[in-house]
Amino acid sequence: MSRGLLLAIESSCDETGVALLDGSRRIVAEAVASQVALHAGTGGIVPELAARAHLRWIDPALDEVLAAAGATLADVGAVAATAGPGLAGSLLVGLSYGKALAWALDVPLVGVNHLEGHLYAAWLLDPGEAERPEPPFPLVALVVSGGHTFLVEMRDHLAYRLLGETVDDAAGEAFDKAGRLLGLGYPGGPAIARAAEAAPGRPERLPRAWLGASYDFSFSGLKTALRRLVEAELAAAGLPPAEEGGRLPAGRVAALAAGFQASVVDVLATKTLRAAEDVGARAIVVGGGVASNAALRARLAAGAGALGVDLVIPRPGLCTDNGAMIGAAGARRLAAGERAGLDLGVRAAWPLARPAGAPGSRRPPTRGATARAYAALRDAEADAAGKVAR
Ligand code: KG4
Ligand code: ZN
Repeated sequence: MSRGLLLAIESSCDETGVALLDGSRRIVAEAVASQVALHAGTGGIVPELAARAHLRWIDPALDEVLAAAGATLADVGAVAATAGPGLAGSLLVGLSYGKALAWALDVPLVGVNHLEGHLYAAWLLDPGEAERPEPPFPLVALVVSGGHTFLVEMRDHLAYRLLGETVDDAAGEAFDKAGRLLGLGYPGGPAIARAAEAAPGRPERLPRAWLGASYDFSFSGLKTALRRLVEAELAAAGLPPAEEGGRLPAGRVAALAAGFQASVVDVLATKTLRAAEDVGARAIVVGGGVASNAALRARLAAGAGALGVDLVIPRPGLCTDNGAMIGAAGARRLAAGERAGLDLGVRAAWPLARPAGAPGSRRPPTRGATARAYAALRDAEADAAGKVAR
């Protein structure tokens, strides 16, 4: 008899993730094939290579997960696959694979927003982990990934009110750029965290963009400040510029990495905690690759403790891209009755929440990332109205 497991597939960026879930929270087995080594040489993701690597690794990842679960395809009762946002070619691999399986097995299919997956990772339970209550509503959720940074309020499942978002770089993107500038390689986040930990003295004091009372974020000023410092110090030491491989002494790199991390963590944590207080949240959940940062986790833990608010941050492997999180969000959508047809298309841009009516005096955006998000939202709404996504 079929075990009615949910098969979940993630392929939006540079990890091929496959997972089997039992119910909406319990991971039965999961596998993530990372492309970090593939893209390290170029210091960033090459989309065409990423799509080919997904194609190469998706079969073995599925085989591994089925074997680990002691299951066969006959045990799959539904399929969830990431439909966006992300790299179109990469998304197409996982979504097409999911569609083919759902069709062949004659089981329901649901397309999942990758960002909703990051958020719902907080609900997941590892194999063998003791049951624990779900994060209570109302809650504030911070998503900090390589491509997105935003804060939402949730009063119920699958319903989001946008509180704030980045007006320029995503937090992970900022880490990656800073990592490159400091000669620490790709991806920058974990490399900066490691370097910061080894910093012997005080971290360099770098600026923080508070943007008044709003919950929006900005990291481009910080990035520029870091670049100016690095350039000036390299020039003073008679070393080549960073782009040509110039690198400051290790102790100095560590102090700058620590200062950069401290600035990002300070702004992310301060705004998240203030939002939790302002909306009377009972919990804070955090997801996305940057949520695996130990300094951010420690800072939020201390703040949430002081506020008396639950804090749920998945283990690091469930913060970075993985299949299980797509299952967690997909299961909720399936439970809500959502079903995708085989005509479902990928959406390279697909905001999770619309910027409207949030506290902190938002004016309608006319330029920059927020305006682009509005435009993407209009596209998404056109899709939802029945047009085929391109
Ligand atoms: O969520 P994710 O795996 O992929 C996207 O959806 O973008 O996030 C990847 C991002 C990268 O920018 C990476 O540098 C960052 O998460 N990251 C970290 C850490 N681990 C990954 N940033 C800071 N500290 C970390 N420990
Ligand atoms: Zn992600």
